[in-house]
Amino acid sequence: MQKHTQNLGNNPWRVTESSFRPEHYSLNATLFALGNGYIGLRGTFEEGLEGAADQHGCYLNGVYFSEPITYGESAYGYAKNNQRIASTALPHQLSIKLNGELMDMKRGKVLGHHRELQLDNGLLSRDLRWQTEGGQTLKIESRRLVSLTDRHLIVTEYRVTPENFSGRLEISSYLDATPAQAEASDDPRVGSGINPDDLKPLECQADEHGLLVSQRLRSSGFTLVSAATDRFHGKQPLSTQPERLGSYSAAHHHQLDAKAGETITLTKYALCYSWLHENEEVSTQKIQSHLLASCQKGFGHYAQQQRQAMDRFWQDSDIEIEGDPELQQGLRFNLFHLFQSLGRTPGTNIAAKGLTGHGYDGHYFWDSEIYIFPFFLYTQPELARNLIQFRYSLLDAARDRARELAISKGALFPWRTIGGEECSAYYPAGTAQFHINADVAYSIKQYHLATGDNQLILDVGAEVVWETARLWLQIGHYNPHRDNRFCINEVTGPDEYTALVNNNYFTNAMAQAHLRYASELYHWLQCDHPGRFEELVQNLNLSEAEVNEWREAAERMFLPYDDESGIHLQDDSFLDKPRWDFANTPKDKYPLLLHYHPLTIYRHQVCKQADTVLALFLLSENFSLEEKRRDYDFYEPITTHDSTLSACMHSILANELGYADKARHYFSQVARMDLDNHHNNTQHGVHTACMGGTWLCMVQGFAGMRIHKGQLHFAPTRPEGITHYRFKVRIQGRQLSVSVAPNGTRYQLLSGPPLTLISGDQELRLEQPNTDYTATTLREDNAS
Ligand code: BGC
Repeated sequence: MQKHTQNLGNNPWRVTESSFRPEHYSLNATLFALGNGYIGLRGTFEEGLEGAADQHGCYLNGVYFSEPITYGESAYGYAKNNQRIASTALPHQLSIKLNGELMDMKRGKVLGHHRELQLDNGLLSRDLRWQTEGGQTLKIESRRLVSLTDRHLIVTEYRVTPENFSGRLEISSYLDATPAQAEASDDPRVGSGINPDDLKPLECQADEHGLLVSQRLRSSGFTLVSAATDRFHGKQPLSTQPERLGSYSAAHHHQLDAKAGETITLTKYALCYSWLHENEEVSTQKIQSHLLASCQKGFGHYAQQQRQAMDRFWQDSDIEIEGDPELQQGLRFNLFHLFQSLGRTPGTNIAAKGLTGHGYDGHYFWDSEIYIFPFFLYTQPELARNLIQFRYSLLDAARDRARELAISKGALFPWRTIGGEECSAYYPAGTAQFHINADVAYSIKQYHLATGDNQLILDVGAEVVWETARLWLQIGHYNPHRDNRFCINEVTGPDEYTALVNNNYFTNAMAQAHLRYASELYHWLQCDHPGRFEELVQNLNLSEAEVNEWREAAERMFLPYDDESGIHLQDDSFLDKPRWDFANTPKDKYPLLLHYHPLTIYRHQVCKQADTVLALFLLSENFSLEEKRRDYDFYEPITTHDSTLSACMHSILANELGYADKARHYFSQVARMDLDNHHNNTQHGVHTACMGGTWLCMVQGFAGMRIHKGQLHFAPTRPEGITHYRFKVRIQGRQLSVSVAPNGTRYQLLSGPPLTLISGDQELRLEQPNTDYTATTLREDNAS
């Protein structure tokens, strides 16, 4: 993997671009994206950049185009339609003309350029000095926010100062929903292009009050409406000319009489709305009054609210580290993007690329449950709830999908989707990943353990767990050739460099845990909540006999293991394959998926990402330390980490095994995966699973947090070069602060009833709030 770094400073609260490099424009459009869980705006310049119009993107979470997937050769049950995240009119777009000459950073001369993503304020700021070919110099300062308190609103403050000239200046402000074309690529991680015919223009208005454009996505039925207006502070324009530019685009052209040294301040307020059903429709009048009310409040008001919202976020969710500012910057950047990308409204989740790019077409994967969910669960459980609600809202679609695959009972979640339909066009690394059902159930169990919130389990959790558990009895069987053990054939585990195998260890072990949990829930409801139990079992036609079958299958689950080497086998045939010839694979052939046909890869022992190693973490209690060590030592050398989901799991396991150097090495990659563009594809969007992995590495890796049999454990250690670190977690109605220092770990109960925890081999009873309880032992790890 080629490393592609730029200097982004090492301010722990700011990501800084201090010079203009056109070759970094697309990458930085991702890094400097802003979002609020509903809208995601890429960090493109207000004036755009010549030749880079395709880098713009203003995404709406949960809103998608739907288009038929074209297969050269199709087969029964293949996914029929792709859903692609919709991009709407750019809310920040402006242009400047000086005496008729259009300003563009690629023309003239850039005298200075500085951008900052302000992680503490939730703003993007930009300061630049630019000179025309004729030597006229302009200073531009902009600040932008995607409001965290009003999910429809984007505000851009734009200040222009002519430094050495006076004359005519034209600032045009646009709302342009013209569909952009995505780049064509063989890389499956890049999203596909838009069919412009899919957009039906509805309204396009430009008058003295503002601009409004709306369209319907014909294929999916969504309506998108954007409205915008500008306000000048101080110096006012000589005139403002509204203009409609075709069916998708409208503009205001402001003519100004510019004076050297005099600053022109324009604030652009823009709103984005979307709905699918008529009853959600918002009238144009309502949108216009919303816009007016926003203008009256002003940029300062929203900037202050943004700061308060960020303060609240960091208050609960920050991880502070001392000793390595670049790691601290990476860590905060990752948590910031997770917060910006997570859907808060019904029907929304968090996409693999967040709301920062069109990679993977904006799809939601298992990344949400296994990699991202824990961060929200332990810091802001109310946000984690929405992810469970989201899966519940897909249950009917998942039932339909199960029937398509001849699964007569229960539900099968799509491998990738936005609105619920299976969108994976390549089933070997898509639909065959049946483990998605167990991953969802796993996250529900974690939620239940960590929050004790019975209500959500009664309302939606149990139904999801049971319906998805039904899958296993349908696709698995008792195999007489395997001592009548319960076997599951023709599946793909997390490792996408091995496909369509029998008895993938991860899948079988997770299915076993799923079936056990489903049965526990059944008995818990039966005893403790008989009313709801009756209602649910009747609705789902679930019997005690079926639950007994679940338990039986779990007990008799086949878990491939090699007695000779003492390792858990990734699948039945894994040891029969030759090892990939790593020694003779040049560096530029990675990631393998871009250089070898899948069959070449599938024939070999080579892993794209943690698979059995992931089971060692998720199902930690099932393994002894020695078993973990043998498995890790076997799988780690044959893992390419071509997926960004891999390094974090290896860091966590390395920590547990005392491989301090490896734990630190993998963590460094994870924490700065996107900032340093380790996988060379951050231009298509950030890697949210890896960002969630950052939190996992710190809290469950270095601090070793686990809940074992209902008991909270920590096993803190310190990564090399980090002197202290601190974080907070919410657990079972308490908030706890954990602070790891060279002389031990300090725990404080910030709220909630007393708690007993185990730190290393010490038991601590936290009775008094806001009081230090110190565990003196710190795990000493051996370098590997
Ligand atoms: C990984 C999957 C992941 C997807 C989206 C792929 O490269 O192999 O496990 O779900 O990316 O992040």
